This record gives sequence, C-alpha cells and structure tokens, in this order.
Amino acid sequence: MHLFEYKNGEIYCEGVRLARIAAEVGTPVYVYSAGTLAHHFNAFDSPFSGVPHITCYSVKSNSNVSVIRLFAGLGSGVDIVSGGELFRALKAGVDPQKIVFSGVGKQRPEMDAALAAGILMFNVESHDELVALDAAARAAGKRARISLRVNPDVDPATHPYLATGLKKSKFGIPIAKAFDGYLHAKTLPGIEIAGIDCHIGSQVTSVEPFVDAIRKVLVFTRRLSDAAIALQYFDIGGGLGITYDEEKPPHPVEYAGEVIRELADSGFKIIFEPGRVIVGNAGVLVTRALYPKENEAKRFVVVDAAMNDLIRPSLYGAFHAIKPVVPRDGAQAMVDVVGPVCESGDFLAQDRLMPPVERGDLLAVMSAGAYGFSMASNYNSRPRPAEVLVEGDTYRVIRERETLEDLVRGETPPQV
Ligand code: LLP
Repeated sequence: MHLFEYKNGEIYCEGVRLARIAAEVGTPVYVYSAGTLAHHFNAFDSPFSGVPHITCYSVKSNSNVSVIRLFAGLGSGVDIVSGGELFRALKAGVDPQKIVFSGVGKQRPEMDAALAAGILMFNVESHDELVALDAAARAAGKRARISLRVNPDVDPATHPYLATGLKKSKFGIPIAKAFDGYLHAKTLPGIEIAGIDCHIGSQVTSVEPFVDAIRKVLVFTRRLSDAAIALQYFDIGGGLGITYDEEKPPHPVEYAGEVIRELADSGFKIIFEPGRVIVGNAGVLVTRALYPKENEAKRFVVVDAAMNDLIRPSLYGAFHAIKPVVPRDGAQAMVDVVGPVCESGDFLAQDRLMPPVERGDLLAVMSAGAYGFSMASNYNSRPRPAEVLVEGDTYRVIRERETLEDLVRGETPPQV
C-alpha cells in the first residue's frame, strides 16, 4: 500500500499534487508520504503486539530527523550504526532505552556518546570491539549492555552486496567462535550480557532464510543457557524486502507469524531492525526531463536527477519503476533514463518502456524512500536534493535543497 496515486490524470501524494511540489520546491526532490510511513510502521509492528518486542527502525534507510521523529511518536526505537545516527535519533526524541547500536567499526567517541545517552544495547561484532567497549564503559563508570552479533551463515538469496550473514561476510562473529566470545564477555567488568543478535541481509523476499537463521541462533542460545549465560533479548535484525518490480515478499503478517512461531516460547524479548519495509514504498524521487536524445543504438531521456541523488540503479542494478507525473498519450518507446553525471553508470533505468516524455515533463522514480537520500552524495558538485513530507493536503520541506555554498562548506578558502 502507498499513497502515490493518479487522480485526474496526474500523480498525487496523499492530497497534494507532485507537480505542485515540483513547481514550488524545485527538482529533483524526494517526497515522502506521512500516511504511508505510519501505515507501514504499524503494519510491521502491530502483528507483534502479543509478544514482548521492540521495533527499532533502521535509521540508515532514511535518516531524516522528521522521519525518525514520526516513528518515535509511534513508539518506535531505532537501530543506529554511527555516532551521526545516534545524534539524529536523539534530536528526533527517540527513547535511548530503545536504541540498539550495530556496525563493525564503532569508534571510541561513538561508544562514549552512546554510553552517555544510556542506549539499550550494543551489537558487538568482534573480540577486539568487545575489549574496546569494555574499556570505554569502565572509563565512563558504566556497564555496556551487549549482544554479540553472530553470523548464522544462511543465504538470504538477495543481491551479493546486500547479503550480510554469509560465512565470507565481514559482519558478525561465526557461531562457532561466539561461545568463547560470551565466556570472555562474562569476565569483563564493563560489560553486561543482554542478548544475541543476527542480521542476514537486506531486500530478502522470502521468509525461509529468517526462519533458518532464528533456528540456528536458538540452538546456540541453548548452549549458552547450559553454561549459565542468560540472555534477555533476541535481535533478528532487519531485511524484509519490498516490491520494486515483481518481487512477492512475504507480508509483515506472514513474517510475524513465522517469527512468533519460532520464538514465542523462548522467553526472549524480540528486537527488530526494519528499514526498507517501512520507508521504501513511502517515498518517490521527482525529477524533471531535461533533454530527450537518441543515437544509433538507443534513446535516452536526460533528467535532472542522477546517480548522486539515487545510487541504487547504478550500484546494485536495482529496478525502480518510473512513472510520468502527468502521462502523455502516444506510443511507448524503449528508453534509458539517465542523469547529468559524467559516468556511463549514471542511469535511473535502462531499456525501459515508457510513454512519450518531453522536455520539462516530470517523472516520479518510485520506491525511493529507502536508501535514496540517505545514500546521496555531492558527486559532480551537485547539491543534494530537498526532502518533503506530505501529510494529507499539506506538505513541509523537511530538508532544504543544498546550496552552492553548502558544497564548499569546510573547505579552506583559496589564498589570494
Ligand atoms: N540492521 C542492520 C544491522 C543492517 O545492516 C541493516 C541494513 C538493517 C538492519 C536494515 O535492513 P533493511 O530492513 O532496510 O533491509 N543500500 C542497500 C541496502 C543496505 C542494507 C544495509 N543494512 C540498498 O539500497 O538496497
């Protein structure tokens, strides 16, 4: 479900015409639907209402403070992976007791800030990180609650860049080594063992890999309890996929049913770290066609958004549907939708059948709410786009378009 629909021959986001936002805010612009964000959060969270759990929205998927605040208002916690994300989460008013800190390379100042904030838990990914966290906690006169992130070695059947739980992956600790990790953790005065964590990958479109991972980790937790290592939390990470094209991911209710069946009797409080499934289809990138052109081999539509604004097609070969905001009549043609960046890899779509697109037409790049703006860069010295949040019949700019001055902020002025 999402609230980007054609009405009277043009796309609206909830009650606001995308063309109006483009005219008033300019393009490219990310547009998010508050109603869709809230609907997706509740669709994910409410099937778990009968079991102890915390849904910790994964900030990296869409890091805008207003988006985080919307979820915080619905009772969400967050999954963070940097001091920057911690800063955003606290600014957004997230309850620190609902913050989990993941990532393979947490640095001391980030640990210090998270300890000072009193976050719920650190998901620790290596022996040396555990030792460093122990030192940071002792220096702060605190104990850091931890889960070890174990690597269950299951294949999530997704893009290789998005698989994180395979043997060869940099993430987590192999289950075979994690037992010693917990024994070691138990001896460290700055560490309090709280739970166990795994995350198998992203854009996972079937429920089996999650079930496999849970079962493997559960077997391991029994070994731990036999060794008198008691855990309270079971963090199963994020990763549930969405429909970009023709994928048929499990509905959150189906996912929840399987997870609850596996974990209901375990006594664990379950932590979820969903990102994409909540924000992915709640946002679009609106771009304007600059120049249609063709050569002997291909037709192109050059638009004002590029790989620096939305890198997913270039980086993963990801599919994003592209819809004309105000469709024209006429024969469809096969085109590449490309940006102004000086790289052949700068495309938003390749070999896509599209209705006629003329100079000045607006296009909506769909399903751009997750890993869109949050992965945007300034490559080619392009200011990053504005972000807009629509609520009913009104909208708000929740991040201004960057200016040229923003591009050089922090650079040393040339000596004259
Ligand atoms: N938890 C951890 C530890 C993660 O690493 C991630 C995503 C998530 C949760 C949230 O996963 P989600 O529910 O969104 O699948 N840039 C890529 C996706 C990278 C995902 C990285 N980790 C993309 O555009 O597809």
